[in-house]
Order: sequence, then structure tokens, then C-alpha cells
Amino acid sequence: MADFLCPSVNFIGAGTVSETGPRAAMFGTKALIVCDGFLASLEDGPVAKVKESLDASGVVYAIYDGVEPNPKDTNVAAGLKIYQADKCDMIVTVGGGSSHDCGKGIGIAATHDGDLYADYAGIEMLTNELPPIISVNTTAGTASEVTRHCVITNTKEKVKFVIVSWRNLPKVSINDPLLMVAKPAGLTAATGMDALTHAVECYVTKDPNPITDAVAIHAIKLISKFLRRAVANGTDLEAREGMAYGSLLAGMAFNNAGLGYVHAMAHQLGGLLDMPHGIANAVLLPFVERYNLMVNPEKFAEIAVAMGENIDGLGKMAAAEKAVEAIVRLSKDVGIPQGLAELGVKESDLQEMAEMAMRDGNAGTNPRIGKLEDVVQLFKNAM
Ligand SMILES: [Fe+2]
Repeated sequence: MADFLCPSVNFIGAGTVSETGPRAAMFGTKALIVCDGFLASLEDGPVAKVKESLDASGVVYAIYDGVEPNPKDTNVAAGLKIYQADKCDMIVTVGGGSSHDCGKGIGIAATHDGDLYADYAGIEMLTNELPPIISVNTTAGTASEVTRHCVITNTKEKVKFVIVSWRNLPKVSINDPLLMVAKPAGLTAATGMDALTHAVECYVTKDPNPITDAVAIHAIKLISKFLRRAVANGTDLEAREGMAYGSLLAGMAFNNAGLGYVHAMAHQLGGLLDMPHGIANAVLLPFVERYNLMVNPEKFAEIAVAMGENIDGLGKMAAAEKAVEAIVRLSKDVGIPQGLAELGVKESDLQEMAEMAMRDGNAGTNPRIGKLEDVVQLFKNAM
């Protein structure tokens, strides 16, 4: 059985941020804009453009601009306070995955009693409809603007938890490459490698289907074609749009067929060390996929071809190995660190992180069923 979820309306292309206001006017009268302080401070940035569009459509708004990277439960609580005090009836998230996830968290907290972590972490635990969410995306990466996942960090336990529910889906996603051109190269690289990780993990996941296969492999092609260009020249609009499509397709894929050990392990690096999600994924990706190769070498060979590798005349495993080589080359070219040790990870953290990773929701869809020792070893290999 397969189900396939996606927001009702998805705008992609230069200038589409101007669709925010007209869509918001269809949902209600007062929006809570959820973003970080940096985006809110830019005079002509994405938040300013969103406000302009809301103004033009007569939609008033309050703003919560305290979203942090790896958004925290404390961010959700602070945003909820404003949502309730200002009697908002919809949420407009502006930014990357952190803003979208925080906005979803606020939507959940506004409509559900109890504690997000204790009562709703897991799959399909939500019981009530969320306020309408419009997600204006500014980074080609997490694809949270099109997914049912809400990832929040529990600040007491120092652990990331995931609330997976069809109710989390934004009603409208907007990917305007003009909002992405100012992103620095390092952030473009990290978020782009997150998108590649979604596509690769989903293409070889335990439970793929023809829809997710189709979109995941095309996402891999687009990201391989455009990520270097987007990093080399942030104002390359064609590359930004190509990455926006690649990220969105990868999101549509993993939203419906899941991920694997890379994300299960990366969530621990994010929760324990606040490591940027894209960097954590990018470092782990080649090690986990080399471990996964034997499960489905044919699919890895297809990934290699999608990434531009020549596999003519190679045996099955050698062709599959080319996918890992291509991932490493792309990762190096865009400036991703190649080991966890240089990112401050200590050997003494690995055992605990591996135990947590085995309990992460993404571990269950990894194609190769590993033991705890395997995941510890994967962390060690990635040091
Ligand atoms: Fe991700």
C-alpha cells in the first residue's frame, strides 16, 4: 500500500512570493509570521516581501522572529504566546526548515493540549486540525514546506523529536528562487546536501513506490546538476530554481517513502551538539550508503548514472560504488567537512548517539537492518 501526500497548492518560480497575500486572504484575517531574527531584520528580504504581499491583500499579521536553527521547544512556546495573544487564525512561515518546523509546532500547540514531546512525538498522534499554514521557503534543503514532518529539539533532554502527521502539511508552499539568491555559499552547500540526502535515502529506502522512485531520481539529477553552480554563484537564478525543484521533489519523495540511518544519526548530532542538519547529513551520507550498497546495487548504479558517472563495463558492485564516489566528490566540491572529528564530535559520545539513532523514526526505513554495533561503527567510520 502507498499513500501520497503533498500540499494542495505549490508555487514555484521567480516572483511567486506575491501569491502569499491572496492565498492568506482565502484562509482568514490575521496571520502569525514565523521566521528568524536575521530574515526579519532585512529591509528588502523575504519577510519584507511577505509583509508587502499580505498588506496588499488586506491581511494583518503579528510576527514571531525568534526561530533558532534546530528549532527548540522554547521557540514553539514563545511563538504560541504571540499566536494566542494576537488571536491569529493562520500561520505564515518564512525561511528554511527551522521556520517551517517551528510554525508547524506552533500550529500543533495551538490546537492540542499537553506536551508536544510527551504526547505527540511519533507517527499520526495528532487528533485535531491545525490552523492553515502557508510556507514561504528560502532555502533549497529540508523541504519542510511540503512535508508532514515537524522536527523540534527538546531542550531539557537535548534530543530532537519528530511529529509525523498528515495534519502537519502546509496548505500552500511557495518556492521563489529570488528569495534564495542572497544565501551564503556555505548554507547553500549544507542545505543542498540535505536535499541530496533526502533523495538518495528515499530512493534506496525499504518501502519505495513508483511515484517516490520517479521524483527521487529526478531530484538527484537536478541537485547534481545545479548544486555546484548555486554554491559557486549564488545569483545564478537558473541554478537556484533548479535546486528549488530538486529540493521540492526530494521532499515529495521522502514525505511518502521515508529516509534511513543518515537522518536517524544526523538528528542525534543536531540534538546533542546543535550541528547544522545539512552538514551532519552530508558527512554521514557516503558512509551509510556504502554500508547499504549490498542491499540494492542496481539502484545505487542508477544513482551513479543520475549523478553523471560512467558505469559502462563495470560489475554490479563496482557500478554501485560509483554512487558513493560521486556523493563524496560533490560534497568535497561544495566545501563540506569530511569527518565528524573536525566538527567537534567526541568518541565518548558515539555509543549514546547510536542508541538514540536506533530509536529514531527514520531508522525503521533504512534498507539494511543493522544492529547497534553497526551504527556505532558507522559513527566511528565517519569520524
Ligand atoms: Fe533532512
